[in-house]
Amino acid sequence: MCGIVGYIGKENALKAVVEGLEKLEYRGYDSAGVAYKKGEDILICKEKGRVSDLKLCILDTDSSLAIGHTRWATHGEPNKRNAHPHCSMNGRFVIVHNGIIENYQKLKFEYLSEYSFISETDTEIIVNLIEHFSISLTTEEAIRKTMSLLEGSYACLILDQNDLEHIYCMKDKSPLLIGRGKSAVCFASDITGLIGYAEEYMPLEDKTFGVISKEGIYLQDIIGIAIENKFQKIAVQKEEIDKQTYDHFMLKEIYEQPMMVRNLIHHYFSKEEVNVSSKLIHHIRQSDKINFVACGSSMYASYFAKYYMEKLCGIPCEVFCASELVYSTPLISKRPFFIFFSQSGETADLIAVIKKIKKQRFPILTITNTIESSMVRLSDYYLNIYAGKEIAVASTKAYTAMIVTSAILARAVSKTKTNLKSNLKAVSLAMEKVLENKEVCKGIAKEIIDQKDAFYIGRGIDYWTSLEASLKLKEIAYIHTEAFSSGELKHGPIALITKNTPVLAIITQEGTNRITRSNLEETASRGAKTYVIASKGLSTPKDDVIIPNVAHYLSPLVSVLVVQLIAYYAAVLKHNDVDKPKNLAKSVTVE
Ligand code: F6R
Repeated sequence: MCGIVGYIGKENALKAVVEGLEKLEYRGYDSAGVAYKKGEDILICKEKGRVSDLKLCILDTDSSLAIGHTRWATHGEPNKRNAHPHCSMNGRFVIVHNGIIENYQKLKFEYLSEYSFISETDTEIIVNLIEHFSISLTTEEAIRKTMSLLEGSYACLILDQNDLEHIYCMKDKSPLLIGRGKSAVCFASDITGLIGYAEEYMPLEDKTFGVISKEGIYLQDIIGIAIENKFQKIAVQKEEIDKQTYDHFMLKEIYEQPMMVRNLIHHYFSKEEVNVSSKLIHHIRQSDKINFVACGSSMYASYFAKYYMEKLCGIPCEVFCASELVYSTPLISKRPFFIFFSQSGETADLIAVIKKIKKQRFPILTITNTIESSMVRLSDYYLNIYAGKEIAVASTKAYTAMIVTSAILARAVSKTKTNLKSNLKAVSLAMEKVLENKEVCKGIAKEIIDQKDAFYIGRGIDYWTSLEASLKLKEIAYIHTEAFSSGELKHGPIALITKNTPVLAIITQEGTNRITRSNLEETASRGAKTYVIASKGLSTPKDDVIIPNVAHYLSPLVSVLVVQLIAYYAAVLKHNDVDKPKNLAKSVTVE
């Protein structure tokens, strides 16, 4: 979702900001813009479309100070007028903003009746409020006064035409990091945008206000109390955000999964013992119910976590969709434990739930790929899924890494010893075998790309994989796909089957093999074009994709690679933007 970048320093600020925006492209956006110092003026360049479109209008321009933005439309359609940066009516202030201001109509009515507006955005209200208050206040005071009125979320960088030596920032709920390098101070919405220009970073706390110049960083809370600068080293390597020889980041990330499993073994096992904090294990053991909270693919991964925890540890579990949980209060047990799954650690729906849970003082663990994230800061415990940076919008390696991490956690909490470590090693080898077989997946993709609908079916574990399979195909191949528990077909969905509708069955569990095949047959009798993805031990010669046998409870880690590849090739064959699918964002920072 929207990305912010800012730079002040000795190198060409405009080049640094455009490079930063390119690194944030993966977050998803529909327009982009920059504002920069040129002589004694601030110039703005913005376009609907890609960051590369900006390069034409700012070619060869040098500047010591610049801010930039990629916009994912919330208020107003994606066009040049609504793209950021936005300028105040009298031209004094320029702003880029991530987030949503919920009370912007009220503020406009109360304070800005004399003002005229160019865009439909809530952002233009913020910049005009600052200008309005600056008539009687200093810039710092005007920004802090504006902060005190805003409801919603924001991370903003602000330039003042009367003072071109500083960048001002303010932040509440939307993420904003400040980076420090040898010759620069920079800003970005996530750490990727800082790489190459900063060696250290500091995530800003909510309600932080800051004034940054070449000479220094001055941060305050909303009432003006100085905040100590606490920088830490940036651990993400430049190679991690490079596509290398792959055509797309998604393909690279699919191929990184066998290594990711080995990395997790390395990080969490010493010999046969699991290294997870004993305090965390004790805390989970004390609980009478584990509540998993997540969104999208991460929520589908948490179904497996529930399965592992219940089977191995005997603790009842429930999975909640974060965007639903924010607005409903389920029955809470006496000693609940909350586990959040999030690749980005910045998903707004999840942050809203964490804050709600935190108020009730229930223990919180976040399982994430981003330990420098807001969710980690709000949690009592965190576990790293060590998937490495995931750039493609469609999650692949983070999804499987979450499943592996939850199996490891359940093993740590359980008092029973299992041979998880050797089973996981077998999974990484089985994953490699699936990747060698990618042409079969491409063949299936070719056959389904022109269909209006496609369905994935399975039962139990295989049903949860079907949910993820269907999400992948929707989001990057834009094919209408649903996942059904195969037993549910005849209770309604089978009415959708027409001639050649693709129905793909996932079969990795002995107990449900026979019945899923019968259900698939029922769709074939009604004209469906059926496909079977099955584990070797359960397969028949007619099956379309045969995957190596692994421990039955880890089989989704292998079968999911097949459906990831089918979705990937379907998107490639349709000439879609695989890594940046339309309307989607990597980090969903608005509710
Ligand atoms: C799908 C996908 C999304 C995310 C969801 C949650 O491929 O990536 O469904 O899983 O937006 O995001 P995180 O895990 O960052 O909280």
